[in-house]
Amino acid sequence: MAAVKESIAERAASNSFVGLWEIVQQVEGAQLQKGFVPYLWKWDVLKPLMDEVSANITLEDADRRVVIMSNPGARHKHHSTNTLYLSCSIYNPGETAPVHRHTSNASRFVLHGDGGYTVIEGEKCPMSRGDLILTPAGTWHDHGNEGSEPVIWVDVLDLPLVENLAVSKFEFDYSEVDDQGAPKPASVQTVSLPVGHSYNLYGAGGLIPAFIDHKRGQSAGTPMFIYRWADAKAALQRLRDMEGSPYDGIILEYVNPVNGKAVTTTTAFFVQMLRPGERTQAHRQTASFAYCCLEGHGRTFVGDTVLEWGPNDMFVIPNWMPHRHENLSSTEDAFLYSVSDAPTMQKLDLYREEPA
Ligand SMILES: [Fe+2]
Repeated sequence: MAAVKESIAERAASNSFVGLWEIVQQVEGAQLQKGFVPYLWKWDVLKPLMDEVSANITLEDADRRVVIMSNPGARHKHHSTNTLYLSCSIYNPGETAPVHRHTSNASRFVLHGDGGYTVIEGEKCPMSRGDLILTPAGTWHDHGNEGSEPVIWVDVLDLPLVENLAVSKFEFDYSEVDDQGAPKPASVQTVSLPVGHSYNLYGAGGLIPAFIDHKRGQSAGTPMFIYRWADAKAALQRLRDMEGSPYDGIILEYVNPVNGKAVTTTTAFFVQMLRPGERTQAHRQTASFAYCCLEGHGRTFVGDTVLEWGPNDMFVIPNWMPHRHENLSSTEDAFLYSVSDAPTMQKLDLYREEPA
């Protein structure tokens, strides 16, 4: 019997088959996290590294000077979670990154320095600390720093998801049209819209212009490309006396102003306030999360791991891991910015959530 089984296995293997009985544990006992672990990247470690990177790595080395938060549980992939890629970019004064677009949804969020900007589909978005800038899949964008000191921002992309689906594509062949109507390749976009265009169109909550079609580039995501931190913080403060979510305190989602849905097709963006003395209940979702602390201090418990965070620290919660937050050791509000892949899971009917 054993010899027959061995012969079957050999014949199967040499013809690119495998019997389920050989790998049944692998299939039915699969772990949702696939090796990803909860992890915290401290700003006091990252900032000196970014300073050294800005002095020694040129933009020629990779167009964009980026340090990736590589999850130690799945290091070979250089992904932060199964679907999310969290990284930190630094631009020295006067530097620009060439215009490009990709099939990934991307965002950035300034942590340090003034003068950074992104041009998206002809709209220049000057970025200040805490502002959220979105470059939904299919939108042309280029970056730069016109300030006098280096600018550091956080990027969050759905790149691991798009890579796993084998549909990741970056395009750099941007061109504009010259006086004669002929295509003219360009490395940065001509700014063709007023500064603050997104804000002019959508900055008043509950009101949207009824005289445009809200289409920006080839994007199916939000037509509003910049969300200001001052507005988000003021909105959180207005709600501070409410009970909020048992799992997240006072939490707001950045939404597409036209349809009220998540700002990208795959990822949802949030900002939350944990008040002094606040301790949330634990829950878990099939979605994974990337976080960045904007202000304050606190702790997040993820499974058996305690992540103790302060300003500019970043951390991830892999999918289906029980987690809760607390702001117990401080007298200040704590503000956390987060991104999740919940829209992807919901569209695929794979979203689950439960108290833990
Ligand atoms: Fe990009």
